[in-house]
Amino acid sequence: MARRPILAANWKMQKTTGEAEAFAKDFVPRVAGAEADVALAPPATALHVLGRALAGSAVALAAQNVHPEPKGAFTGEISPDMLVDVGCRYAIVGHSERRTLFGETDEFVAAKAAALFERDILPIVCVGESLAQREAGETLSFVGGQIAASLARIPEARAAEVIVAYEPIWAIGTGKTATPAMAQEVHAAIRERLGQLFGAAGEAIRIQYGGSVKPDNVAELMAQPDIDGALVGGASLDPESFAAIVRFNG
Ligand code: 13P
Repeated sequence: MARRPILAANWKMQKTTGEAEAFAKDFVPRVAGAEADVALAPPATALHVLGRALAGSAVALAAQNVHPEPKGAFTGEISPDMLVDVGCRYAIVGHSERRTLFGETDEFVAAKAAALFERDILPIVCVGESLAQREAGETLSFVGGQIAASLARIPEARAAEVIVAYEPIWAIGTGKTATPAMAQEVHAAIRERLGQLFGAAGEAIRIQYGGSVKPDNVAELMAQPDIDGALVGGASLDPESFAAIVRFNG
């Protein structure tokens, strides 16, 4: 099945409002006419200005995180409605940095994904194994478990719209990319699991690869049958570099 590629930038804790605006100005013309969905996830402080800078363009705004509750006493958190307010189309949930540094569980990630769908924001749900899990031969069972638990609460009728990001933790920010064959093996296992969970919608769900994606390795990753996009950290901070990734197919 032909799935439309989706390339997303995760800037993590980087870029001021001025830097985000300057990026947009440089980047948007570079990717005009690209045959892919493209999104930028700045830090929360830059969502508003970046949303304005991207308005009317084909580049979408994404958040790096969200809280599942609609409002209330959750100091420091941001609700789905607040992301609607600034124009987000997508939100990343369950990034490994949130899971490992901030103790987020599959259950919390599942609540976030469900809350996003209620406000019509599409979740980019991240999964991925540690080096120790890979070396112990637990990758497929662990990632399969994360998929089932993290997607447990999404509305079945909208399952095809969720985006999954497979990001092996050992490949994030390390320069160590999974080989295309290694990534494909896990993506195929994820797709099989999605089929068990959601039937035919599993074939439509886009699965991004993340972990040291660069302009010079994106094409071979995207050539794999079950790799439908990329979630990019370091190489997304420069507009020329991320534009080259978006234009992976020339
Ligand atoms: P890098 O591309 O810097 O390895 O980061 C990947 C990532 O975590 C994207 O969410």
